[in-house]
Amino acid sequence: MTRRRARPCRPRALLAAAAVPLALVLALGLAAAPAQATTPAPAEPSAERGKRLYTSYCARCHGVNMVNTAGTTFDLRRFPKDQRERFELSVVKGKNAMPAWGDTLKPDELQSLWLYVSGGGG
Ligand code: HEC
Repeated sequence: MTRRRARPCRPRALLAAAAVPLALVLALGLAAAPAQATTPAPAEPSAERGKRLYTSYCARCHGVNMVNTAGTTFDLRRFPKDQRERFELSVVKGKNAMPAWGDTLKPDELQSLWLYVSGGGG
């Protein structure tokens, strides 16, 4: 007599099939989590971000787009491009009438501002 072959029951395959969507959900969840935790702005420093920061924090004294019309504050377009350390020190600690920005700016924001200022503004 011929026994009908029982249909192979493969619990492993079933498990694997269930694991794929589960892994996808987990991966998507993990990818979405940091985006919610941080600000929408990308963390990569860039002159473009620097310009936005400059406009919010620095333009009221140093002029829109670094064009300094008042003549009383430092003209940032003339800031020496090879003196990044001086830039960071003055901005973080402040200088005479310029307030310190160390508590306001994150390190990547300081870097973005330097990229903007050393790029000549605009
Ligand atoms: C309240 C007005 C004010 C604001 C806001 C301001 N600054 Fe200044 N800044 C000054 C003044 C005034 C000086 C000149 C300081 C001096 O040499 O006596 C100066 C000087 C500087 C210098 C030259 C420092 C040096 O080493 O000679 C840099 C660089 C600078 N500011 C960057 C910035 C940046 C970047 C921002 C925004 C995060 C900013 N400043 C916001 C007033 C301001």
